[in-house]
Amino acid sequence: MNIRKAVIPAAGFGTRFLPATKSQPKEMLSVIDKPLIQYSVEEAARSGIGNIAIITSRGKSSMEDYFDTSPELEQFLEEKGKSDLLEEVKRISSLAEFCYIRQKKALGLGHAILMAEKYIGQEPFAVLLPDDIFDCPTPCVKQLVDVYSEFKGSVIVLGRTDEEGTKKYGIIKAKQISERVFQVEDLVEKPGPERAFSDLAVLGRYVFHPDIFEAIKKTAPDKKGEIQITDAIKILLETQPVYGYIFKGTRYDCGDKRGFIEATIALALNRPEFSRRLREFLKKLMAHSS
Ligand code: G1P
Repeated sequence: MNIRKAVIPAAGFGTRFLPATKSQPKEMLSVIDKPLIQYSVEEAARSGIGNIAIITSRGKSSMEDYFDTSPELEQFLEEKGKSDLLEEVKRISSLAEFCYIRQKKALGLGHAILMAEKYIGQEPFAVLLPDDIFDCPTPCVKQLVDVYSEFKGSVIVLGRTDEEGTKKYGIIKAKQISERVFQVEDLVEKPGPERAFSDLAVLGRYVFHPDIFEAIKKTAPDKKGEIQITDAIKILLETQPVYGYIFKGTRYDCGDKRGFIEATIALALNRPEFSRRLREFLKKLMAHSS
């Protein structure tokens, strides 16, 4: 089965990264040499998705410029004979067909996804939260698409978490049906260790049946006045099965400063041009720090 469209919610204030995000979107902060959001866009493209709606808000138009063509820059690079850079710049604007939808008020992740209802129509679609970078041999969204095709129901990506994670992630209660696939029975948003059903956390990739939009419309706002996608999935569960899937690969949580630093180091260590020198540098640094 083919999933053609994806939604990337990118409308938040990025408060966890202030002051860096005072006048630029969090999604445009660079992890090594490309903005955080590009990792999600490339994952969607590698999963065969050609149409991407980015949910944005005021002050975030640099994302639109980034994925557009840049005729002056391209001409400049061509004149200077910088063909590698020219190819890279052109590649970025041809990764997908982009559509930008504004979320006027920060009313939560569920509400942000609902903004894309008209764009998606009546077909299954993927959601990628750009805070998460997935480094997987088979792109994480492609893994979820395969599960969707087999089980014919919405799929959430799962990871095992610890006590700290129960305060950061949605947590599910589920019946295991194969090594990596679970049937979701219940879920709760950031419950904390006392109220967590399990150590199975919802991470930042989903493939949804389009009925999720009706479920979001029925979802009541939480205490902060936000409509959570976790609560909407709970409503969707009343009418159809939802699956969880433990992905194959590595995931980096760039949702806060520490995770962002860890992701940068880990991904740089995987890059041949930085690996050896960076390892030596880190060793030296560790030897001198107490
Ligand atoms: C969102 C979801 C949460 C999920 C998390 C994954 O939370 O609401 O259920 O576990 O993404 O990163 P946020 O990080 O936007 O607070």
